[in-house]
Amino acid sequence: MRTHYCAEVNEENIGEIVTVAGWVSSRRDHGGLIFIDLRDKDEVIQLVCDPADNADAHKIAEDVRDQFVLVATGKMRARGEGLENPKLKTGKVEMVVDTLVIENRSKPMPFELNDEKVNEEIKLNYRYLELRTQKSYDIFKLRSKATIAARNALDSLDFLEVETPIMTKSTPEGARDYLVPSRVHGGEFYALPQSPQLFKQLLMVGGFDRYFQIAKCFRDEDLRADRQPEFTQIDVEMSFCDQEDVIKVAENLIKNIFDTCGFNIPSTFKRMPYSEAMENYGSDKPDMRYDLKMVDVIDIFEKCDNEIFSKIASAPKKNRIKALKVPKGDEIFSKRQMKGFEDYVRKFGASGLGYFQMKEDGLKGPLTKFFTEDDLQAIINRCELEVGDAVFFGAGEKKLVWDYMGRFRIYLAEIMDIIPENTFEFLWVMDFPMFEVEDGRVKALHHPFTQPKSLDYDDIEEIESIAYDIVLNGTELGGGSIRIHKEDMQAEIFKLLGISEEEAQEKFGFLLDALKFGAPPHGGFALGLDRLIMLMTGASSIREVIAFPKTQKAQCLLTKAPSPVDNEQLKELSLRIRQQTPVQ
Ligand code: AMO
Repeated sequence: MRTHYCAEVNEENIGEIVTVAGWVSSRRDHGGLIFIDLRDKDEVIQLVCDPADNADAHKIAEDVRDQFVLVATGKMRARGEGLENPKLKTGKVEMVVDTLVIENRSKPMPFELNDEKVNEEIKLNYRYLELRTQKSYDIFKLRSKATIAARNALDSLDFLEVETPIMTKSTPEGARDYLVPSRVHGGEFYALPQSPQLFKQLLMVGGFDRYFQIAKCFRDEDLRADRQPEFTQIDVEMSFCDQEDVIKVAENLIKNIFDTCGFNIPSTFKRMPYSEAMENYGSDKPDMRYDLKMVDVIDIFEKCDNEIFSKIASAPKKNRIKALKVPKGDEIFSKRQMKGFEDYVRKFGASGLGYFQMKEDGLKGPLTKFFTEDDLQAIINRCELEVGDAVFFGAGEKKLVWDYMGRFRIYLAEIMDIIPENTFEFLWVMDFPMFEVEDGRVKALHHPFTQPKSLDYDDIEEIESIAYDIVLNGTELGGGSIRIHKEDMQAEIFKLLGISEEEAQEKFGFLLDALKFGAPPHGGFALGLDRLIMLMTGASSIREVIAFPKTQKAQCLLTKAPSPVDNEQLKELSLRIRQQTPVQ
């Protein structure tokens, strides 16, 4: 229908007859002369309808409204002096319309297309209209480029793209499964994959050596700005490899994707053991774009006169007392603000938040009375305090302190506005514990197919695994591990997780069987593609980078899924609805 996309038209086309097609982004009637901004996928062109040039086209233009679909043909000419628009590729030219066809009309828009403040629900109801904006198109253009770059990078490294089933058996990745009832086998269910984890391991047993997939994954879990129930992974697995081999492939892949999309990043990334990440940043995904590091002061607090602190400090294996220095914090924050921070950390289970201010004549604050001069000096030295700094303290059970002090670190960075934009800080977090114990129950920190470094242990929580996460700007971008490839070790891990032999056989029998038939050493990783694009485009939510996303309540407002089905369908599936559980 067209001779040119709008973006292809420029001064070189002056004098030529051109046909363009697209949507009206605005129309201005200047008393006789009608200007139309016509937009296609990635540029706007100005059409001029002058009754003196073509009365028919002008008559049609009188009828045109925003978002009508037009095909326009006419001669390109230079815009008049001072009328150029440097923001557009087509900004030096305009079309004198000769033929104007209204291909379709449009109802008035339910929301202003480029208005960032419009309620997200309205936009999601009409997602296709939001996709029509330049901002959306640019996001999906980058997403397409990045995905193709990933395919090319992995192809050039000899990885084979293989699809694995969507209707399958449950793979544990820590979330609830989405289930699909079977009609043929009444009362039985498929699970949608939380990841292709077990299948990619089976492909290694199948001798494929190197596999990848741009894989859809499904997890029924609490949704957040960086979580969707249905999301995409760049999923990778390889055989006869160690951790270094896998890391090299991941770095190569990520570097290729960023390069192709025009971003400059290093070719290898920093590394940090899990324990250091937790102790210094209170998180297994520390944001390395800013400093604000925590320091241990439990040994100094042990000597203080405050019963609560000295009691906490008497159990240094179980508890932590962490100091977080805020350079110039005493100058930046009012006393009221400092007290107010306590309310913030209380939301995450803290019983309080102590603070000191570093003044000309030493440390000040409500807690100083509990310390000797020497110990106050020790705090100054340990935290490297200078006049004008503030330092906050969190004390209690270690996981709790890590959590709320880690959140507090991020909160401070945000309110102090010290997080640089347009930088990418990658970090490998390594040496994760194999297990964590919650309410007496042993859980796998990654997944139960991860290889432990050794199974000699006193405390089960001290066993480390050969697992690694890749963190970008404080978001977990991906994770992986070297897997267990021996049946006896896999059985041992299931046992430690409290999974009985029968249960292991019932749930993962096919994997345990496969491990008996010459499974090679193998390992891999998966990157969250949606998160990657969210970070690359600076989108504020993962929903912006998914064409048809779901809401925080896991609904698709556009199609109205999930929705009830009729009784006939339920009957066929041998199902009866007992009670409707209202959406929380
Ligand atoms: P993991 O569970 O860490 O590992 O997932 C890998 C990456 O997938 C992304 N991700 C999500 N993105 C959006 N919404 C979600 N609900 C969501 N859940 C996870 C994250 C995460 O880092 N099978 C293993 C990988 C392996 O060991 O090879 C796995 O799935 O970016």
